Amino acid sequence: MSDGPALHDVGMLEQVLAALAPPGVLIACRCVEAGDASHILPDESGTILSRTPSGRDASGAGRLLAHGLLRQLGHPDVAVPRGKAGEPVWPIGVVGSIAHDADIAIAVSARAETVRSVGVDIELATPLPPDLEPIVVTPRDRLGDCDPAIAGKLAFVVKEAAYKASFPLDGEVLGFEDIAVDLPAGIVTLANGRRIEARVSISSHILAVAFVPAAVED
Ligand SMILES: CC(C)(COP(=O)(O)OP(=O)(O)OC[C@H]1O[C@@H](n2cnc3c(N)ncnc32)[C@H](O)[C@@H]1OP(=O)(O)O)[C@@H](O)C(=O)NCCC(=O)NCCS
Repeated sequence: MSDGPALHDVGMLEQVLAALAPPGVLIACRCVEAGDASHILPDESGTILSRTPSGRDASGAGRLLAHGLLRQLGHPDVAVPRGKAGEPVWPIGVVGSIAHDADIAIAVSARAETVRSVGVDIELATPLPPDLEPIVVTPRDRLGDCDPAIAGKLAFVVKEAAYKASFPLDGEVLGFEDIAVDLPAGIVTLANGRRIEARVSISSHILAVAFVPAAVED
């Protein structure tokens, strides 16, 4: 866990995300702009249908980042549609993840030899709604020495990043209760026994990167 700077601009966010990502995982960040929906490719558009204009802009910003990362990995002009469960579908041999809110989009991607799977999430470092906290945090979670006011949000972000890393491997939909976080150890353990490494930064935002190293077999 690290105390990062306030993420005032994309440059700072890039630095924080790059420090969290395992070696060889490419990262990209962007402020969501009105009109970013125009970056959604025709092969992606049909999979991103029922969204508000701002939601489509956020998805478009994420797609712009994903396309740029794929270019760097030698896959120019390749679409990243949403799968049936909302997961981004990367070309064969590539893994990655997208997260966004109304203001910021981030994406990570790598060759599958570099990392078996990766997930990211970002949220403002604000308290979770009180009714959500007992759903998200379970007695098995170890969150370390964090501000109790944002402990619930911290667990939420790490669990979402871990879910985004695990779903592409087995298609299993998980609840918060299926995901046990041990932040001091940097490990998330799923109810099915899968272990996922997790790194987190807390500043104005909580940013988490979760990944399964390439060497890990099922
Ligand atoms: C995946 C999920 C956690 C994303 O959370 P979110 O707050 O809606 O949105 P985020 O900004 O964090 O991420 C959105 C991106 O996640 C990615 N995503 C969505 N479903 C995904 C999945 N099943 N696996 C991996 N990535 C997924 C998509 O790229 C999406 O962006 P896009 O719609 O522009 O393509 C959520 O949508 C979901 O599927 N929840 C069901 C399961 C659940 O809630 N379990 C609780 C424990 S995690």
